[in-house]
Amino acid sequence: MQKLPSVVLLIGFTILIASVIIGWLVVPKVIENKISQQVRIVNGSETFQRWQDVPLPIYVKFHLFNVTNPDDVIKGENPKLQEAGPYVFLQKRKKVDIEFHEENDTVSYRQIMTYHFQPHLSNGSLNDTVTMVNLPMLGMAHKAAAMGAVSRYVIVEYLADENIFVKKTVDEMLFKGYHVDMMAQLSSFTGIKYLPNDTFGLQYGKNDTDQGLFEVFTGVQDTDKFGVVASWNGSPDMPWWEDDNCKKIRGTDGSIFQPFVTTDRKLDMFSPDLCRSLRLVYEKDSEVRGISSYKFTVDPEVLEDPIFNRDNMCYCTQQGDRFDRCPKTGAYQLNACRKETPLLVSLPHFLDGSEEYLNTTEGLHPDRSVHETFIELEPNTGLLLKAAKRIQINIEMRAFKFIKQLRKLPKLLLPIIWVDEVNNSA
Ligand SMILES: *[C@@H]1O[C@H](CO)[C@@H](O)[C@H](O)[C@H]1NC(C)=O
Ligand SMILES: *[C@@H]1O[C@H](CO)[C@@H](O)[C@H](O)[C@H]1NC(C)=O
Ligand SMILES: *[C@@H]1O[C@H](CO)[C@@H](O)[C@H](O)[C@H]1NC(C)=O
Ligand SMILES: *[C@@H]1O[C@H](CO)[C@@H](O)[C@H](O)[C@H]1NC(C)=O
Ligand SMILES: *[C@@H]1O[C@H](CO)[C@@H](O)[C@H](O)[C@H]1NC(C)=O
Ligand SMILES: *[C@@H]1O[C@H](CO)[C@@H](O)[C@H](O)[C@H]1NC(C)=O
Ligand SMILES: *[C@@H]1O[C@H](CO)[C@@H](O)[C@H](O)[C@H]1NC(C)=O
Ligand SMILES: *[C@@H]1O[C@H](CO)[C@@H](O)[C@H](O)[C@H]1NC(C)=O
Repeated sequence: MQKLPSVVLLIGFTILIASVIIGWLVVPKVIENKISQQVRIVNGSETFQRWQDVPLPIYVKFHLFNVTNPDDVIKGENPKLQEAGPYVFLQKRKKVDIEFHEENDTVSYRQIMTYHFQPHLSNGSLNDTVTMVNLPMLGMAHKAAAMGAVSRYVIVEYLADENIFVKKTVDEMLFKGYHVDMMAQLSSFTGIKYLPNDTFGLQYGKNDTDQGLFEVFTGVQDTDKFGVVASWNGSPDMPWWEDDNCKKIRGTDGSIFQPFVTTDRKLDMFSPDLCRSLRLVYEKDSEVRGISSYKFTVDPEVLEDPIFNRDNMCYCTQQGDRFDRCPKTGAYQLNACRKETPLLVSLPHFLDGSEEYLNTTEGLHPDRSVHETFIELEPNTGLLLKAAKRIQINIEMRAFKFIKQLRKLPKLLLPIIWVDEVNNSA
């Protein structure tokens, strides 16, 4: 009797290998059933263990854009950028508060992520200094521009002594953060909290925290729904978008996928940090360490200019006059979900983006092999073999006539950081 579990395991493993080898044939019903039994989240199973405490290392690599000619930018010239890093962190994921809801075939959880710096994998130290735009200030300027004259006047007073470029250490820019006196003073005047602890850092408050309450389908009753997000923070919609098409949470969380992958499958995945669901489509057959795979990359439609692809119009929440403030191909706005901060998401170095974005900054060199986002799945089981989520965060820069230091700023999208999240399970 003691031997039984290992025998069962061995059979399961053999079937898995067999299914991989004969994957290009029609999968026999027996194997199909076997796989269907594996891809479900049930308490105690092996799939459950790997799902709960993700054993595979995930490396998150931060590349910061160092502005090397800040004084020229203040005078109206385009910025020159130098990429600093990568600063590499090991990301550990652990699911907590796990609760099964058998009546509707779902499980809910929070996923805690912790980050551990990897000096030996990084190009530089966290003590390196970088010159970057003063994001709290630029954000406030955008807010002030949308206000009435009196409120605007108050904010301008508080911004009077700020520099539009700041020199900080990489640590301060990422997880450690730095205290922003101007925001603290403004907050105590208006009574509005703009930053947690009046501290700013691109990753401040992101260590050892979760990204909200997820509820996903376990796949027990319906294999086709395995891993699909049923709700996030109690709702099947994202509250910040207005249109139903943009609101709807689609797909899985990007770590698990339904089995029996076909080349016409659209891989949707929901990512709270990107404020939306992204869609990947089949690109080609590939291979990860000898195991054949299907490679999926970002559907070009996802980042199309809303003028040409009306489905994307609901992501343009700051339309301006006749949509002139809508992003061009290659970017979308985060204003709606980030307290009106004028941030935009694109692929790194504006890969596949409008030429205008590339032209207005110096030092960007899009390279598909380094900057594309992709996922490789084993077709029968849907197991993720390899993935890279690559995203760049940009801020909308323009002149603000009512603030003396910002009077001549050029109008462009300024890249701040790009993040490479690599998951290689093979
Ligand atoms: C950023 O640029 C400044 C000035 O050009 C330079 O002193 C600094 O070393 C650069 N930082 C990194 C991390 O390369
Ligand atoms: C390391 O950073 C320096 C600039 O800080 C850059 O010139 C160099 O190309 C980087 N090396 C790698 C391997 O990324
Ligand atoms: C899983 O089963 C164990 C043992 O029966 C139990 O202690 C645990 O609470 C269960 N976990 C969940 C998330 O239901
Ligand atoms: C599933 O059931 C739980 C508990 O009854 C409930 O809170 C949740 O909203 C349900 N989810 C869906 C998608 O119906
Ligand atoms: C994140 O938190 C963990 C545990 O609390 C700690 O060990 C680690 O050093 C922290 N990472 C960063 C980047 O601060
Ligand atoms: C970074 O600077 C701090 C304080 O100046 C120092 O204690 C630490 O050793 C430095 N770290 C590295 C890696 O140089
Ligand atoms: C703000 O400061 C408090 C006290 O130091 C700390 O417990 C809390 O985690 C900080 N908030 C964030 C978002 O880091
Ligand atoms: C970008 O620059 C290139 C080369 O200088 C030029 O041919 C192209 O017209 C520019 N595109 C835009 C949109 O300004």
